[in-house]
Amino acid sequence: MSDHDTPGGEVARTDGEFGATAVRLDEGHVIGDGGLPDRFENPGLEPHQQRMSDQSEAGAKRAEKQVAALFSLSIIGTIVFVVAYFALDAHAYVFIPGIGDMDYSNAVLGTALAFSLLGIGLGAVHWAKTLMPDEEIVEMRHPMRSSDAARQGVVDTMLDGAEGSQINRRPLIKYTLGGALGLFAIPLGLQLVGGLGPLPKNGLSLTYWNGPIGPDGKPHFKPLRLMRDPENTAIKVSDVTVGSVFHVQPEGLLDMDSGVLEAKAKASVLLMRLPPDTITSRKEIAWGHDGIVAYSKICTHVGCPVGLYEQNTHHLLCPCHQSTFDVTDDCRVIFGPAKRPLPQLKIAVDDEGYLIATQPFREAVGPSFWERGSA
Ligand code: FES
Repeated sequence: MSDHDTPGGEVARTDGEFGATAVRLDEGHVIGDGGLPDRFENPGLEPHQQRMSDQSEAGAKRAEKQVAALFSLSIIGTIVFVVAYFALDAHAYVFIPGIGDMDYSNAVLGTALAFSLLGIGLGAVHWAKTLMPDEEIVEMRHPMRSSDAARQGVVDTMLDGAEGSQINRRPLIKYTLGGALGLFAIPLGLQLVGGLGPLPKNGLSLTYWNGPIGPDGKPHFKPLRLMRDPENTAIKVSDVTVGSVFHVQPEGLLDMDSGVLEAKAKASVLLMRLPPDTITSRKEIAWGHDGIVAYSKICTHVGCPVGLYEQNTHHLLCPCHQSTFDVTDDCRVIFGPAKRPLPQLKIAVDDEGYLIATQPFREAVGPSFWERGSA
């Protein structure tokens, strides 16, 4: 082994305990071949700085008063909070330039509570930093692994326990206990699965576009007008200009006696008008009207409303996980976790020039589920 000085003042070793070419930068650590430290040497502790409160009783007294002042601040904050809570009108407003009308009872309560909590926190921290013991202690790291004797002790204890319980000598207990514990998992599992809610069955296959529910409890299809949401007014072809997008609900949905929200959530539709020559799918052209197309608004990933339409690219974006659908091509998924295109609603124009749905969705809307194939 030989050492020599380097231009940077470091000492280089060319063999020995640090490998072929190790460089010692200082007394603290050693750099090996790969430029990584081989090991660190204990740098020791900085000289201990005595605190003011350690050096004199006057310093300690001053720290005590500071801590007491912070705790007193907390007491005052709490008192103000309690008084303000009962004394101030909960809906009284004051005008603050640059902010506007502000409910000042909230402001007073919030400020008082802030001082109340802050006083306790700062007081405790200051107390610990100025008056509590200030000793630097080195505790050497111990091996994580227990000694062989301790490990064997644990094994012996467990074997003793098994022996004391007589489980090995009482097979009846052993097997019935195993059966009881094993079967106990079944109700737990059922509860877990049941807690996920009812099975979707055909809940997403039938929407209000299938028609109003008749006395027989079944939907009876009839062409329904596409209505603006939330105005609930019918939409004429001439209302839909190229680049526009309408949020749509079926005609008559709001007349339901109950379950309006659920029905609306399943039947929501987006209506857009594209230049007809941008549409690349023949089915999409056939199911639309002069570039006007309607698609389910429920994302086929996990069901968020797909509400962002980018009219230059004709992309629909789901804000939840960024699934992106190409409206010019059957709302095919071009990005994101969704696996299926958005279902298209076939539309036409009635005698009065209003847009109508000429058939319900031909597939289940929303996320995929296991019975979907039988929809
Ligand atoms: S719900 Fe639309 S991307 Fe996830």
